[in-house]
Amino acid sequence: MKMDEILSVDGMSLQTAAAIVGVGFITLFLFIRYFNGSKKTSSALPPPPEIPGLPLLGNLLQLKEKKPHRTFTKWAEKYGPVYSIRTGSTKLVVLNSNDVAKEAMVTRFSSISTRKLSNAIKVLTYDKNIVALTDYGEHHRTVKRHILTSTLGPNAQRRHQIHRDTLLENVLKELQAYQQEKPLEAVNFRKVFQDQLFGLSLKEVLGNDVESVYVEDLKTTFSREEIFEILVIDPMKGAIEVDWRDFFPYLKWIPNKTFENTVQQMYVRRQAVMTALIKEQRKRISNGKQTNCYLDYLLEEGNSLTEQQILMLLWEAIIESSDTTLVTTEWAMYELAKDPVRQDHLYREIKTVCGSDEVSEKKLSQLPYLMAVFHESLRKHSPAPIVPPRYVHEDTQIGGYHIPAGTEIAINIYGCNMDKNVWESPEDWKPERFLDEKYEAMDLHKTMAFGAGKRLCAGALQAMLISCTAIGRLVQKFEWSLRDGEEENVDTFGLTTHRLHPLQAVIKPRN
Ligand code: HEM
Repeated sequence: MKMDEILSVDGMSLQTAAAIVGVGFITLFLFIRYFNGSKKTSSALPPPPEIPGLPLLGNLLQLKEKKPHRTFTKWAEKYGPVYSIRTGSTKLVVLNSNDVAKEAMVTRFSSISTRKLSNAIKVLTYDKNIVALTDYGEHHRTVKRHILTSTLGPNAQRRHQIHRDTLLENVLKELQAYQQEKPLEAVNFRKVFQDQLFGLSLKEVLGNDVESVYVEDLKTTFSREEIFEILVIDPMKGAIEVDWRDFFPYLKWIPNKTFENTVQQMYVRRQAVMTALIKEQRKRISNGKQTNCYLDYLLEEGNSLTEQQILMLLWEAIIESSDTTLVTTEWAMYELAKDPVRQDHLYREIKTVCGSDEVSEKKLSQLPYLMAVFHESLRKHSPAPIVPPRYVHEDTQIGGYHIPAGTEIAINIYGCNMDKNVWESPEDWKPERFLDEKYEAMDLHKTMAFGAGKRLCAGALQAMLISCTAIGRLVQKFEWSLRDGEEENVDTFGLTTHRLHPLQAVIKPRN
């Protein structure tokens, strides 16, 4: 399928386009009249408050800095936890507190179980063909079962423990070598950790790490770094590419070539590289070397899936494994390096519990402060600050407001985690808040960071196992401090809350 088929953009002459633009604007005028006149609903419940915006554009200009979770949170302080905004012609209801977010994700889920995607994400996910973005239903249940059984569920995670152990060994070895060679220089933690996480994802998903791949369709050999760029970095950038037609869907027939070419190129390269990687592994399988990985599992069990669906599911697991766990671990190490007192508290806990043994997954339940560091980093720096928008397909209600069919819902996880009514001094990073006995030590869902209900994150266990053991081992082995000036580097970019600048920390071996 080509991108224009997915977006249904037709080629047409300029005259035709001009004529339709005329009709488009008349339709738009009628639409605005209708929209402004349709505030009253037939329900006894009121509509949510509206954030004032401009005619036609709605609140678009107020969101142009590309960090909508922060703007949404500011608006919540003035307008309350539920309000509506307009992005062009689309009405979006934004939810900013745990109560209303849970109501939407759990109690009212049956009326809000589909998604409406931006044009970029529609293309990059081959029109919802990944677990995270497919509409709820039989297919979603099947593919979620596949990823949990083969890769992310508790049994699968036990089988994959060897990959997590190797990841940590390699990270520590690399840091140690760097420290010995350049003891006074800051280390780029992201570079080391990201590379190993990517390796783990390739082993879990394809059965093997790779150094390079020859891509027949593009007649090029790509290095591992380039493969990472094509499978992970580019699609993350692509997912936030703005196509103005997202905001004015009735004008979708007008071409937007710059956008289309950018996203199409990402799609084609990703498709070609994934095809080549899968082809190599199929050779391995045909030589009788089956292994415990997602690909081998899907080829056995996924009979109802097409080749393209299998490719998309494999790619999804690679990109999801490579990104959010890094984001959380990098922020946790930043906060610890900035706060020597809390770092020391953690080190002392580890020393008391583990003695001369290394921090291991088995020990996590005895390390409450380590778990609290993980949850507090997830709370303050939620890697997915806004849940991919949900779509209301039948009239419903949330927080005592009437929400008509056709509305989009944005769940602002960042806003939930910064809610002053729930969290004392939410801007402060204070792991102690999770030591309160109201929290179960090993409960993964102390915050909304992994979502809730039937669309709960499938990778939460893996993220916790990798991130917590890594933080523990990193603090057990080294004393961390920030490079001069690093404290100010707190800006983020992209779809997840990636630090804009990779963490630069000075590490000193502990005796
Ligand atoms: C700290 C790390 C992570 C965070 C904060 C996180 C967060 C989330 C969130 C907020 C959702 C959306 C829930 C919704 O739509 O309501 C989600 C879904 C999902 N995540 Fe994660 N995630 C993390 C790590 C991972 C990892 C490592 C994987 C592994 C491949 C993964 C796989 C998935 C999948 C497959 C879904 C879709 C579940 C569904 O729609 O039923 N996640 N995640």
